[in-house]
Amino acid sequence: MTGLAVLNDQEKFPSIAAVVAAVIKEWSEHEKFVQTSLGTADEDYLSRLENVSENVLVLADGELDRFAADYRWTCGILREEQFYFARNKEYRRSTIAEAIRDVYANGAYMSRYINGLLLSQVIWQNHTQAMDIYRMRFLPGNKDNYHHLEVGPGHGLFMVYAADDPRCASLAAWDVSVSSLESTQDALKKMHVERTVDMLEAEICSIVPAPDQFDSIMCSEVLEHTEQPQKALDNMLKALRPGGRLFLNIPVNSPAPDHIYLWRKPEEIRSMVAACGYEIEDFIEIPPTGKTLEQAYKQGIDISCVAIARKPNGSMRTA
Ligand SMILES: C[S@@+](CC[C@H](N)C(=O)[O-])C[C@H]1O[C@@H](n2cnc3c(N)ncnc32)[C@H](O)[C@@H]1O
Repeated sequence: MTGLAVLNDQEKFPSIAAVVAAVIKEWSEHEKFVQTSLGTADEDYLSRLENVSENVLVLADGELDRFAADYRWTCGILREEQFYFARNKEYRRSTIAEAIRDVYANGAYMSRYINGLLLSQVIWQNHTQAMDIYRMRFLPGNKDNYHHLEVGPGHGLFMVYAADDPRCASLAAWDVSVSSLESTQDALKKMHVERTVDMLEAEICSIVPAPDQFDSIMCSEVLEHTEQPQKALDNMLKALRPGGRLFLNIPVNSPAPDHIYLWRKPEEIRSMVAACGYEIEDFIEIPPTGKTLEQAYKQGIDISCVAIARKPNGSMRTA
């Protein structure tokens, strides 16, 4: 069975079907995109996506129609930014102050945006694949009893998977937005996560982290929100223990209201991560829904870059 059949067979993958049905009910013109996204997925992949979708339904908490409306709204604001980017070849904002003023400080805006991104975890190929790599390669590759930090947890879905992992010894979350931390807290409550998560309102470039705290850091779609991603990478390197691992997901050419640092080529990201002192274990480039990687390169459109990187054993602590 491929993903296309999911749209017709609600019994096999009921949660994917429920999310898809709500989105198409809200936005019928989006059906083709959804079909393209799910169309090539095989049964194993769909089984894992069904699990993500079950969690998404729990987080939507009976308000799936509202989340579907927020998803449509989020796609609308991203489209406006794409038009701006196509005309100007730059992101609209370039400072954190602008992003705070226009996005992070607006609780209602942030909440819709985060809800929209939550549903994208079922519908956008680049997001579903990045989640799959996180669950299937990154978390299982951590050492036993790992201490885990997520930077920028937003909707909290990634955090739920770390919290579910019995090999994870402790959980922490740092985010610049109080509203995002509230969304994460809310997600953990809805998923009946009983473990304590050490939550901190923190900006990843300016925080002065205690050294050697974590064995695992997850940082997905955050560094493009920073002015100086090298500082964020330095801070995460410092916070990692030697041998500790970082999961990074950063898009190139990906305009959004709160994206301020523009990478135009995946290689720029790989070089920056290596230059900051990490050993790169894996680097995966994921094109957007319906495009090949070759097309994405040729058209200069977004590519999600997932890096799994390691703090070298025996590395000197950064100052
Ligand atoms: C686009 S959301 C990503 C959510 C989730 N990690 C994902 O991949 O779907 C970005 C998150 O990073 C947070 N964030 C943005 N800039 C940040 C910064 N400089 N320091 C810490 N958190 C930041 C935002 O508040 C938000 O929760």
